[in-house]
Amino acid sequence: MCGIVGYIGARNTLAVLIKGLESLEYRGYDSAGVSFIQNGNLNVIKKKGKVKELYKAIDEQGYDLSLKGKNSISAGIGHTRWATHGAPSDENSHPHLSMGGKICVVHNGIIENYVELRKFLKKKGYEFSSDTDTEVAAQLIEYYYKKFDCKDFEGAVQRALQDIVGSYALCILCVDYPDKIICAKKDNPIVIGLGQNENFIASDIPALIEYTRDVVFMEDNCILIMTKDSIEIKDVHGEVVDYEVSHVDWDTDAAQKGGYAHFMMKEMFEEPKAFEATVAPRIKDDVIWLEHFPCGRDYLSGIDKINIVACGTAYHAGCVGKYLIEKLCRIPVTCTVASEFIYSDPIIDERTLTIVISQSGETLDTRNAMREAQNRGSRTLAIVNVIGSTIAREADYVLYTAAGPEISVASTKAYTTQLACVYLLAIKFSYELGKIDDDRYKQLQSELLQMPEKLTKILSEQNKIQRFASSQFNAESIFFIGRGLDYYLSMEASLKLKEISYIHSEAYAGGELKHGTIALIEDGTLVVSPITQDELCGKMESNIKEVKTRGATVLAIIPERFADKGFSCDEKFVIPDCDELLTPILTALPAQLFAYYMAVNKGCDIDKPRNLAKSVTVE
Ligand code: G6P
Repeated sequence: MCGIVGYIGARNTLAVLIKGLESLEYRGYDSAGVSFIQNGNLNVIKKKGKVKELYKAIDEQGYDLSLKGKNSISAGIGHTRWATHGAPSDENSHPHLSMGGKICVVHNGIIENYVELRKFLKKKGYEFSSDTDTEVAAQLIEYYYKKFDCKDFEGAVQRALQDIVGSYALCILCVDYPDKIICAKKDNPIVIGLGQNENFIASDIPALIEYTRDVVFMEDNCILIMTKDSIEIKDVHGEVVDYEVSHVDWDTDAAQKGGYAHFMMKEMFEEPKAFEATVAPRIKDDVIWLEHFPCGRDYLSGIDKINIVACGTAYHAGCVGKYLIEKLCRIPVTCTVASEFIYSDPIIDERTLTIVISQSGETLDTRNAMREAQNRGSRTLAIVNVIGSTIAREADYVLYTAAGPEISVASTKAYTTQLACVYLLAIKFSYELGKIDDDRYKQLQSELLQMPEKLTKILSEQNKIQRFASSQFNAESIFFIGRGLDYYLSMEASLKLKEISYIHSEAYAGGELKHGTIALIEDGTLVVSPITQDELCGKMESNIKEVKTRGATVLAIIPERFADKGFSCDEKFVIPDCDELLTPILTALPAQLFAYYMAVNKGCDIDKPRNLAKSVTVE
C-alpha cells in the first residue's frame, strides 16, 4: 500500500527520496512522486507508473540523482500511491500541491469526510486538480495558513486536523519553511529515522535502514515537527510529548535480494533459518518459554474461549491455530477474518483470549478487530513480525515471529513463522492444562526443532516442483483439495497461487467438492491435493478418484510414509515425515514453490503482483 518518505539534511535529498521510494516498492503501488522546495518554490514531480518513470522525469529536468551528488535542496517528501480515491494517473499521484502553491502533502490513509471538506473549500474559491481525498488536506492546510496570515505552519496543520475525519499519515511541506517537515499520524504508520544533522521519515523501516538504525515509531493523534537537527512530537493540544527511541537490528542485506532472482525466492530459502530463530530460543531444558506471556495454569484457568483474528495469509495461519488449540487443549476457538469480525457483534468478554496475527502489525482491519475485542474486555496476544508496529504495541502481550524483513508481497517465511508461534502456543497451553504428558510435550518440542532441517531438504528438491510447474503453467483454473489440516493448508496454497500467478484457483474441503464445485472439473483441470493425515487418506483417495474420473490431472503432496500407498494421482511431491499434527509447516513450502514457478513461467511480476499491497492500511 502507499509508501511515504521524507528527508532533511546534507545528503542529496532527491537521491535519498528516490532510493527510499525504491525500497518501498514492495508495498504495492501504481504511481510515484516527490516534492521539494527550491529557490522559494514548492516543486512537484510525479508520474503514473513505477519509480523508474519518476526517476526518468526527474533526470530529464536536469537534477542530479546520485547519492554522492550535491544537494541544493534541504527538505523533501516522496510517495508511492496505491489508488483508492481516483484512478492511477499523473494528476491523482501524490504529492498534492495547494492552489496557492504554499502547501504540499503526501498522505497514506483515507480522509472520510473529503466530500464535505471539498464543498467547503470550493465555496471559499479553491479549485481542485485531482479526484483524490488527499488534495483536500493540502488545500485545507493552506486555507488555515492564509487565515493565520501565513505565519503559523504548525498552527495551520493542527487546525486542519480538527476538521479531518479518517485515517492518515501526512507528511507536509510549506514553501515558507524550507527547513522543516511536519507530519501527522492517525491509524497509519510513520517511522522517524534519527541521524547526525539529518532526519528521515518513512512509512516503513526498509526505507531508513541504509542510513540509521535509531528510530521512533510515532503514536496516533500526534504531530511531528522535524528539522535537520531536531524532532519534536506534540499532541492535539500542542503539548510536547515524550517519545522512545528504538534500535532496529535488521541488517541491510536482509532488505536486499542477495543474488536471488526475486525476494520471494530469497524469503522461501530463509524459511529454515527464520523458523529456527522463532522456535529455538523459546525452547530451553524441555520447556517452552513465551517471553513475558504468563500462560501458566492460573492464566489459562481464566480463559473459556479463544478468538483468533487476522487477514490474508495470517488468517490461514490462524485457521491452523484453531485446529491445533482445539485438538490439543480442548478449548473452543473461533478464527475469523478481521474485517468480518468487527461487524459480527462477537460473543467475547474478559474470559476470552483474542490472538491477533499480522506480519506487518499495521493491517487496519486487524487493528480494528483487536480494538473491538479489547472494548469488549477480551485479553489480547499479538503474533507479529514487525517490531514496534501498532498491533505489537497495543496488544497486552506480543510474541514476535523472527522472520526478519519480508519484502515480497506474497508472504512465505512470515506464514511459516506464524505457524511456528501457533504451534508453540498450542503445545504450551496443552501441557499447562494437563492435556498432554511430559513425553508428548518433549516429543512435540523435538519435532518442532527438527523442522528447519526438513525445510532445507524440501528446498533441495525444489527442481521437481519447478519441472511440474513448467508443464502446467497454462492452466486456467486450479483446485486445491484437502481435509482437516490439509484443507487449511489448501486455502493458503490457493491464495499464494492467485496472488502471484493470477490463475483462478479455489480451495475446497475434500468432501465438499462433490456438493457443486465438482461440476467445474473437466478434461485436464489441475487438482493439487496435500494428503498428510493417516485417518483421512482413504477418504482423500476417493476424492482423487472422483476428480480423475472427470478428467483431472492430480498432484499430491504427501509424506514419505505414504509414498507407497499408490494414490491414483499423476504426480507426487514427497515431503519428509513428521508428526502428522505438524505437517502444515512442511506442506506450505512446496505450495509456495509451486505458486512461484507457475508465476515465473507466466512471466508475472513476482514481488510486486498487480493490484496488491504488502500492508493494507485501509478498510
Ligand atoms: C495483505 C498482504 C497479504 C497479507 C495480508 C495481511 O493483503 O498482501 O500477504 O497476508 O495483507 O497482512 P498482515 O501484515 O496483517 O499479516
